[in-house]
Amino acid sequence: MTADSGAPRSLHLGYMYWSNGTHPAGWRLPEAVHDRGFDARYITELAQIAERGKFDFFFFGDRLATGPEYQLSNTSVLSRIEPFTAAGYIATLTRRIGIVVTANPTYYEPFNLARLTASLDHICAGRASWNIVTGADGRAAGNYSRSEHGDATARYDRADEFVSVVRRLWDSWEDDAFIRDAATGEFVDGDKIHPVNHVGAAFRIRGPLNVARPPQGHPVVLHAGTSDRSRDLGAREADVLFAAATTIEHGRDYSADIRRRAAEFGRDPSRIAILPGLTPIVAATRQQARVLYDRLNALIILDDDIRFGGRDPGHWTPGPATAGRQAQGEGYRNLGALSQRVRVDLTGAELADPIGPDTAAALNPVGRALLDTVAARTGRSVGGQDPLTIRDLLYAHIVGGHVVVGDPNDIADYIQAWFEAGASDGFNIQSAFLTEQLETFVELVVPELQRRGLFRREYTGRTLREHLGLERPVNHWAQADTSAEGR
Ligand SMILES: Cc1cc2nc3c(=O)[nH]c(=O)nc-3n(C[C@H](O)[C@H](O)[C@H](O)COP(=O)(O)O)c2cc1C
Repeated sequence: MTADSGAPRSLHLGYMYWSNGTHPAGWRLPEAVHDRGFDARYITELAQIAERGKFDFFFFGDRLATGPEYQLSNTSVLSRIEPFTAAGYIATLTRRIGIVVTANPTYYEPFNLARLTASLDHICAGRASWNIVTGADGRAAGNYSRSEHGDATARYDRADEFVSVVRRLWDSWEDDAFIRDAATGEFVDGDKIHPVNHVGAAFRIRGPLNVARPPQGHPVVLHAGTSDRSRDLGAREADVLFAAATTIEHGRDYSADIRRRAAEFGRDPSRIAILPGLTPIVAATRQQARVLYDRLNALIILDDDIRFGGRDPGHWTPGPATAGRQAQGEGYRNLGALSQRVRVDLTGAELADPIGPDTAAALNPVGRALLDTVAARTGRSVGGQDPLTIRDLLYAHIVGGHVVVGDPNDIADYIQAWFEAGASDGFNIQSAFLTEQLETFVELVVPELQRRGLFRREYTGRTLREHLGLERPVNHWAQADTSAEGR
């Protein structure tokens, strides 16, 4: 957390579970495990490896719709295990690591979500967290008897109301509501069980919840999003933000903005952990890591591949540069889309052609940033000894997101630089493919972070709140009782 709270800041690491890793072709590597995404024992093994690495939490993302097109961009999203079910299983086979479950308020009821999260928090003895998302795939509407997904305003309005009701449901039992006095026959103190009686724009909820108050009081709240509304929701409600930043500047701006908003909401801004996603491609040496990055990319299927009926890679029409925003749908993985994005026609080029200084100079800022990305990941540069090719640029375009390639020292340097610049409080670590990349991170990078005094060597707390340095919230009913007594 930041220095404002008086305590020294500490680095936090989440592990984000993707059944096939984050690299679009990672699952195709011969050494990758790509068929155990529904195997509870395997998911448990991963959580146990992350726990060995003293990660703060193991994180299940989620979406509520799918389609075959995900096979080219992200097979982990294509089909996935339901998070609460998997979380309930790993909860009993791990001891310390937090467990984050993603649930979208657009398609849940608050009562139902409060029960699930409270029950999970009981099952794992205070290690549960709920990641609030408003939904990345609008096709979910079609799976929930809705005619539309709703625009961002409608979804965030519902999410705001939703989370405040869920908190009141978690609080509907005071911590000492149970008496369980067999001699007198008194089981509970009815005065310590409170209805919610919420009537709002989206929900009418009477309460109380039928689950005892969660061990953490309120399970840790995460939030992932980018817009103004998302920032407000995160700054008001979240203990952890899953940020989308991929540069230190962006991370710093985002963090400063969130902390400013949190202060305006009357919160201690230092109590919010801002954790962007990060895929480290790591090996014992930098050279081996770069070879691994090239091997992964060589397995990417471009959209001109006849097996997928892709478009002609030579097709490029000057027009609005929207390709980068097409969420990697069909037609994204080819030179036409790259050309649109960098505003230079590269469609006639051979993939092995080096990029000359003239072409480099003609690229727009996005294209120049892609050159920097290639240089950082591979060491190749325009006019350098190991020349940067069209293929390199294309792969940097396709393998977006937050990727860093290097040896354990490089990865630790990268994490440290962000942390010390105030651009993040750590990261949500993702693996390009499984299992080897998670193991290598835990065996080589975590000890380096520990050696530098940046990361815990042992868990000091039992609950996720304790890992994150967060207090257990006082039940608002108990608070009301105390202030009444004081009068
Ligand atoms: C880092 C990050 C992670 C996200 N993870 C998920 C997810 O697991 N499931 C989901 O449905 N949406 C996810 N989203 C999408 C958000 O919930 C949200 O719908 C989307 O970002 C649009 O809202 P915005 O304009 O506020 O960003 C994620 C967004 C970000 C930035």
